[in-house]
Amino acid sequence: SSDTSDRDEKLYQICQLLESEIAVFDWVGFYLVDPEADRQLVLGPYVGEPTDHTRIPFGKGICGQAAETNETFVVQDVNKEDNYLACSIHVKAEIVVPVKKNGEFIAELDIDSHTKDSMTSEHRRLLESICGQVSALF
Ligand code: SME
Repeated sequence: SSDTSDRDEKLYQICQLLESEIAVFDWVGFYLVDPEADRQLVLGPYVGEPTDHTRIPFGKGICGQAAETNETFVVQDVNKEDNYLACSIHVKAEIVVPVKKNGEFIAELDIDSHTKDSMTSEHRRLLESICGQVSALF
């Protein structure tokens, strides 16, 4: 594993690539487990509009639920979710993929789309593969 700034630069490049290459991805970012806090996510590198949700407790929103279950969470219509934190009124679909180190949840990749029903199984496979490799940066 490398130092934090080196890692964050690489995470940022992944966000940029995904946001620019996949048309339906409108916000792409990483949330990391805060080692200083009890079961809290802190916003890491991202591409897209700034969000108010820079810290998220485990269990809250789509991000917090993915942190708690340590499993990919796909939402095709955010309006149907009651445990959801809105970053922008334009967001319609979301996918959150965990990053694991030796099976333990350490971070997640969060992607928002302005298009309902836009998260495909191909996206999911690609993102899970990326997160599997991202693990080596930690
Ligand atoms: N929508 C997320 C919050 C993070 S923003 O999408 C960047 C959630 O419900 O956890």
